[in-house]
Parts: sequence; C-alpha cells; structure tokens
Amino acid sequence: MFSEKMSEAMAGQVNAEYYSAYLYLSMNSYLHSINLSGMANWMNMQAQEELFHGTKLYNFILERGGRVILAKIDQPPSAWDSPLAVFENAYAHEQKVTGLINDLVDLAQEERDHATNIFLQWFISEQVEEEANASGIVHKLQLIGNDAGGLFALDQELGSRVFTMPASG
Ligand code: FEO
Repeated sequence: MFSEKMSEAMAGQVNAEYYSAYLYLSMNSYLHSINLSGMANWMNMQAQEELFHGTKLYNFILERGGRVILAKIDQPPSAWDSPLAVFENAYAHEQKVTGLINDLVDLAQEERDHATNIFLQWFISEQVEEEANASGIVHKLQLIGNDAGGLFALDQELGSRVFTMPASG
C-alpha cells in the first residue's frame, strides 16, 4: 500500500528534482554570461533531465492514488567563481540527490511498499550515471587548469549534448 508518509516523501522529491532543474538553469545562465556556450548547453540538457525526473515521480504518485501538494521551489545560487566551481557544485548536488533517493528507498522498504521500491530502482541507477557525468567533467576541468585551449575543446565537446527522453519514461 502507498502510505501518506510515502506519498509526502515522494512529493518532497518532486520538489528536489524541480529545484535541480532550477539550479542547472541558473548554471546555464551563468555559463552563457562567461561565453562558455557548450557548457551552458550541457546544463540546459541537464535541466531538461531534471524536469523529466520530477514529472516521472509526480505521475507515479498520482498513479498510486497519492496527492501532490506542490511546495515553493527555493532560489538557486546565481554566480560561481569559475567553470570548475560550477561543475563541483553540480557534482556535490548530485551526491546529495543520491542520498535523498536512498532515503526514499529505505522508507519504501520499511513500509514493505514493493511497487515504490521497484519504481525507485530506476532512480538509483540514474544517480550512478548523474554522479559519473558530473565528476567526469570536474576531473577534466582539474586537468585543464588554466589552459584556454583545453577549456575551449571541452566547451565544444559539451556543446554536443542533446536530451533524449529515456525509454522507461
Ligand atoms: Fe534528478 Fe540529477 O538527479
């Protein structure tokens, strides 16, 4: 059974995912402002993914007969010291989201809510990818340091990212 407690916790995650979209859009805006349009594109695609995550959770809650009370979305930061600081923030944020998903899985298991537990496994796998993507870019930026050529090449690479709707959606 889908408890009210589980429903409220899942609704909290809807908010966290939409906040993530807001955070990445804010990073998109900052990166545009310093003319790193490829990195900005990467953040825009990331924001699209977060909207997808939020909506996937939202739809599941409704499907289980839950009610979603939409909460206020916090204002994200708007400036960072460097592209490296942006991606370090993104990586730290994904680690935090992983913790939130793990808490939801713990609750689903405590409640013996197998359907929610199975649904959340998709997010567990997704978080492995999310963390790997962000930390991979952090490592590249650390290697690049102050090399303008390296930064330009990475910006070009990240400019090719596109959003494709996951098949399980
Ligand atoms: Fe929806 Fe980036 O986790």
